[in-house]
Amino acid sequence: PVKVTKICCIGAGYVGGPTCAVIALKCPHIRVTIVDLNQARIDAWNSPDFKLPIYEPGLEEVVRQARGRNLFFSTDVDKGIQEADLIFVSVNTPTKKSGVGAGFSADLTYVESATRRIAAVANSSKIVVEKSTVPCRTAESMRTILEANSKPGTRFDILSNPEFLAEGTAINDLLRPDRVLIGSLQTPEGKDACASLTDVYANWVPRDRILTVGLWSSELTKLAANAMLAQRISSVNALSAICEATGANIEEVSHAIGYDSRIGPKFLRASVGFGGSCFQKDILNLVYLSESLHLPQVAAYWRQVVEMNEYQKSRFSKTVVDTLFNTITGKHIAVLGFAFKADTGDTRESAAISLVRDFLSERAYVTIYDPKVEEAQIWQDLSEACPSMTLEAIKKQVTLAPSALDACKQKEAVVIATEWKEFKEINWETVYAQMTKPAFVFDGRLILDAEKLRKIGFTVKVIGRGDRL
Ligand code: NAD
Ligand code: UDX
Repeated sequence: PVKVTKICCIGAGYVGGPTCAVIALKCPHIRVTIVDLNQARIDAWNSPDFKLPIYEPGLEEVVRQARGRNLFFSTDVDKGIQEADLIFVSVNTPTKKSGVGAGFSADLTYVESATRRIAAVANSSKIVVEKSTVPCRTAESMRTILEANSKPGTRFDILSNPEFLAEGTAINDLLRPDRVLIGSLQTPEGKDACASLTDVYANWVPRDRILTVGLWSSELTKLAANAMLAQRISSVNALSAICEATGANIEEVSHAIGYDSRIGPKFLRASVGFGGSCFQKDILNLVYLSESLHLPQVAAYWRQVVEMNEYQKSRFSKTVVDTLFNTITGKHIAVLGFAFKADTGDTRESAAISLVRDFLSERAYVTIYDPKVEEAQIWQDLSEACPSMTLEAIKKQVTLAPSALDACKQKEAVVIATEWKEFKEINWETVYAQMTKPAFVFDGRLILDAEKLRKIGFTVKVIGRGDRL
């Protein structure tokens, strides 16, 4: 197997950046260059005061240690490709917005253009690693493109190496992964390429956690893992609706279910709905794949996971309207949290976006506070979510607050949309004193002590908890 000494990563996003920064940290003998077409993003990765383009706990320390030593960020994609012996393709694969498979299938434009660029400029043999999440058999298309374009004496080996990190815990997930998965062709060359990449990870990951499988199993495993994780949340959220209707308590139910060692306690937290750039996209991808394979029952099964999530989000909005005496028109609501989960500034598919959109369509006034999300991002998300409103019209109904306390002032209701730790530490007596009465709190993340709040005087509604306590 080739001993890897130079790695290039195409795509300096949420996956490419942290993943390859950790590789550089753990493999000082390997030169790692992360390239991207987006100049602003690369500038941010290179910024002298480490104002990195993404917020991720622990990331800055990793970049501080490795940047300039064996970790480099550049917009010179061609040079990055030419110098490397192993190339990660870690570009975005969003859901297609138009054409065949629109709304379901993955848009592979970026994967294909990165692959074609590799084919066009590579002048030596390369191991090309598919890191992006892609539909099953994409590696085969990449291989066809590369092989059709390879120069004499150069060869390309394709590996699939999906990423399982979660945002907010990415650095820990990368340093101590449950497993690393590498898929390859089961030919001698394929197995050699697989061994080369295995040796890179073996610098810090125990070998028994590095799983090697066939290419297509690897690609499908990524979609399957996300579908199974999301399915747990949708299952619990479906049960949360039963809890609210019966007076059962979803936290007690989840806790008790999770004690079964066959089920386990993780990913059973009821919520206002899952968000993030992966779950919905990857399930829709699986639905599309199932349909293309003429497996309609399989497609319908997975589609329901996403439909339950949509239901959960709209059910929560409806609870707010119903509780506020069936109208929120002209009322003032504070939304605490805009990111799709705590410890990230990422808002892709955040449940908060759907909530605010619903509140705006009821003509309520909304004040948003999030400790990490950039203001410009909020305006962009709301503009996209409310295509019938101009940004000017949105800004008449929405304001952004500098703190949770500010956001809640003179509001009739507070909605917890993201489980930021600081929301657990809010001084609710102060909030109550400054709110319009009767004061309502809606906990979409199960982070508050509802009884304590009720004693202060709030009316409290919690996901998955009936009123008949
Ligand atoms: P991202 O949008 O944050 O980053 C992708 C980057 O690729 C962008 O900066 C873009 O400018 C760049 N890019 C696109 N085409 C390019 C090209 N031809 N040449 C150079 N650069 C190019 O996306 P992300 O969140 O990092 O996700 C990347 C992939 O990883 C996706 O397939 C996603 O499904 C998968 N994934 C994401 C996560 C996550 O938590 N975000 C986790 C696991 C897997
Ligand atoms: C997910 C997968 O966990 C990760 O393995 C994959 O690589 C990328 O997709 P991510 O989307 O970053 O990671 O975060 P995750 O922690 O999975 O949370 C996704 C969403 O589910 C968030 O909105 C979160 O709040 C929600 N969630 C999670 C719940 O509602 N309940 C839970 O019990 C867990």
